[in-house]
Amino acid sequence: MDQSLDYNYKVVKQFAIATILWGVVGMLVGVIIAAQLAWPALNLDIPWLTYGRLRPLHTNAVIFAFGISGLFATSYYVVQRTCQVRLFSDKLAAFTFWGWQAVILAAVVTLPMGFTRGKEYAELEWPISILIAVVWIAYATVFFGTIIKRKVKHIYVANWFFGGYILAVTILHVVNSMSMPASLFKSYSMYTGVQDAMIQWWYGHNAVGFILTAGYLGMVYYFIPKQAERPVYSYKLSIVHFWALIFTYMWAGPHHLHYTALPDWAQSLGMVFSLILLAPSWGGMINGMMTLSGAWHKLRTDPILKLMIVSLSFYGMATFEGPMMSIKTVNALSHYTDWGIAHVHGGALGWVGFITMGSIYYLIPRMAGRTRMYSTRLIDLHFWVATIGIVLYIAAMWIAGVMQGLMWRAVNPDGTLTYTFVEGVKASYPYYVVRFVGGVLYLAGMCVMAYNAWMTLKGRDTARARIPEMSLAA
Ligand code: HEM
Ligand code: HEM
Repeated sequence: MDQSLDYNYKVVKQFAIATILWGVVGMLVGVIIAAQLAWPALNLDIPWLTYGRLRPLHTNAVIFAFGISGLFATSYYVVQRTCQVRLFSDKLAAFTFWGWQAVILAAVVTLPMGFTRGKEYAELEWPISILIAVVWIAYATVFFGTIIKRKVKHIYVANWFFGGYILAVTILHVVNSMSMPASLFKSYSMYTGVQDAMIQWWYGHNAVGFILTAGYLGMVYYFIPKQAERPVYSYKLSIVHFWALIFTYMWAGPHHLHYTALPDWAQSLGMVFSLILLAPSWGGMINGMMTLSGAWHKLRTDPILKLMIVSLSFYGMATFEGPMMSIKTVNALSHYTDWGIAHVHGGALGWVGFITMGSIYYLIPRMAGRTRMYSTRLIDLHFWVATIGIVLYIAAMWIAGVMQGLMWRAVNPDGTLTYTFVEGVKASYPYYVVRFVGGVLYLAGMCVMAYNAWMTLKGRDTARARIPEMSLAA
């Protein structure tokens, strides 16, 4: 009997499709706000379309709609394959899908209307925040319930990363969302002053560590070995990687609050842990890359593997840059500038985006009962267009960021500032146009993916083919 019949692939497929659709939407909003920064008149004087409202819509759409849908799809697939059992509960899994779509729709409506808690990456007002917590607990129940009823004794390392991400997000979300409702659409944080800032950035940084990192490392440890048809380079290293990473991330949040009212010792603590974080991050990156030992030639012909490996290179780059930016004297130059935006998008477009796309390309044909995607050449096109897009985006923002930092600190011999703030803004315009072009290319790649996935899913009846892997143990 085809083992795939014993698995719940319906929810995996739903989330995989949602990932692609929300990817297009979230990146489109990214392109719109990038255009608004280059041509501010594009605000059109309509409150719903102003930059201040669309920016949180972009971050919520790409992280929570695109990013987390991808994590739902892959974690549900991986936990079933590696535990060799069906999901703990189909009904609860379906609830997580529809519940999560409801959260996203609520964000799409309320953020442009201007309802926000004003905390970055935790903007959604308290009723939506409660819905997130409920869906998340259902997710944890499905995931850990499946682990508990597994048929394989060993818990494969990818599940440790997915499990770590699910547990950490529960804690982070609940603690950072504690607020006093004043009305249905307005609440105030339960914390005040610098404590509020510290809780927020403990949350913010660990959202990077556990959503934008640990979850995707779960993908790395399952999909790269599968796609390369090679075992993980060092399983021992993967375990050390896991524990070192989750221990270190929790302490690094204060690097977001350098030179603020946060006590100096706490800032230095954040800096030191950020520097230490380089080691587990690179250990993981090297482990992922070395999994290709003996299979490097596959990069020439397999664009899915190319997406995955280039993603690891961007991960390595962002996790080198991050520790450098956390050094106080470097942060004095980079903070508030577009250098931060370059760092974010090197990680977001290169690392998070590419590993998600690679994993979803792996899943789509399997969900459609086909052996491969509709067109391998279109995947290759996607890879190249998106890569050029990223390079344009981050190079433009690096140059703009360093330039802004240097202009802001330049002083004349008499101690007055050499440049007014607006001169810095004016000098940044050309780079905003280049970033816009990079964003359009990245979005175009995503649209190519949507077309390719659509054709693959549509052809399911005519080109149904049995997948050899499905009859094997995961
Ligand atoms: C060793 C790992 C990393 C360290 C130590 C690190 C460090 C930093 C530092 C110092 C900042 C600037 C803070 C500021 O001046 O306000 C920052 C911002 C940021 N980083 Fe990283 N980073 C790391 C990896 C990553 C990765 C892999 C991503 C994935 C996308 C990422 C996403 C972000 C985001 C979204 C912000 C902006 C936060 C905000 O101000 O809204 N980082 N990071
Ligand atoms: C077509 C692709 C994209 C474009 C054009 C784009 C554009 C932008 C722009 C213009 C901003 C505001 C920058 C500023 O405040 O000066 C921004 C912020 C941000 N974007 Fe994107 N983005 C794209 C894709 C993504 C993706 C895929 C992710 C995550 C997976 C992401 C995560 C973020 C985050 C976390 C911020 C806030 C950064 C911070 O506050 O430091 N973006 N993006």
